[in-house]
Amino acid sequence: MSALIIDGKAIAEKTLANAREETALLIKAGVHPGLAVVLVGEDPASQVYVKNKVEKARSCGIASFEHRLSAKTPETELLSLIHRLNQDNAIHGILVQLPLPPQISEQKVLAAIRPEKDVDGFHAENVGALQQGRQALTPCTPLGCLLLLKETLGQDLSGKHAIVIGRSNIVGKPMAALLLREHCAVTIVHSRVKNAAALSREADIVVAAVGRAGMVNADWVKPGATVIDVGINRITENGKNRLVGDVDFTSVSPVAAAITPVPGGVGPMTIACLMQNTVHAAKAIAGLP
Ligand code: GUN
Repeated sequence: MSALIIDGKAIAEKTLANAREETALLIKAGVHPGLAVVLVGEDPASQVYVKNKVEKARSCGIASFEHRLSAKTPETELLSLIHRLNQDNAIHGILVQLPLPPQISEQKVLAAIRPEKDVDGFHAENVGALQQGRQALTPCTPLGCLLLLKETLGQDLSGKHAIVIGRSNIVGKPMAALLLREHCAVTIVHSRVKNAAALSREADIVVAAVGRAGMVNADWVKPGATVIDVGINRITENGKNRLVGDVDFTSVSPVAAAITPVPGGVGPMTIACLMQNTVHAAKAIAGLP
């Protein structure tokens, strides 16, 4: 038997359609949602992500503003741009693409973004709110993974055993917090954990976010589990470049009940959730329900 392939593109379209509709209503109410995307440096992958974010925002009717700064930009210059964007009434969401060059402190930059405009959900105030189960702007990739899980397994995830492979601030930690909020039993594993595969084999839900091509193979997956692959790894095979996930799709898909493909799984959801967060931020800033 082969797993159901979770169609991230189709599920993302629903979220985008909703964001489009809400944007149109906001514009009618006199609020035009605005998203500022800041890229420092020329990292090729980041350039693609930023371009996609800006284009998708425009396709939703959201005003989007791209700020490209040189890799040598001093920290003070980036902080003063953030300060201006914090004050700008046309901007409801601010996203600074990570990683940043070494002369800039990621922590200082994320702390400088007004929490109400923090559409990445990385500000300590939003991170804390998520941990405490309060309403807050939530990191886009884990939020997208949660929507995929609910579309696949139904709205009620309570009592399921979920394992999160990876403990990054961008995906692993907020993913674990979201699953806990959904009443799952949550295990987090990472590179120092010796028996990670055995722990993973116990789980009903596997979320892989480690950044290592094909690391999660069939040995890591219980028959019938649902597998969400967050990895986007560029590999060269027979002289050709291609994108693969953290999950070895060929060995895992006959074992799992459902699995996300790479590309076309989590990726489209991340961007759709960014649009949803921007609309939510615009509503909250305008004091609309
Ligand atoms: N770099 C990789 N993922 C992300 C993300 O979700 N947001 C930002 N700002 N940078 C990233």
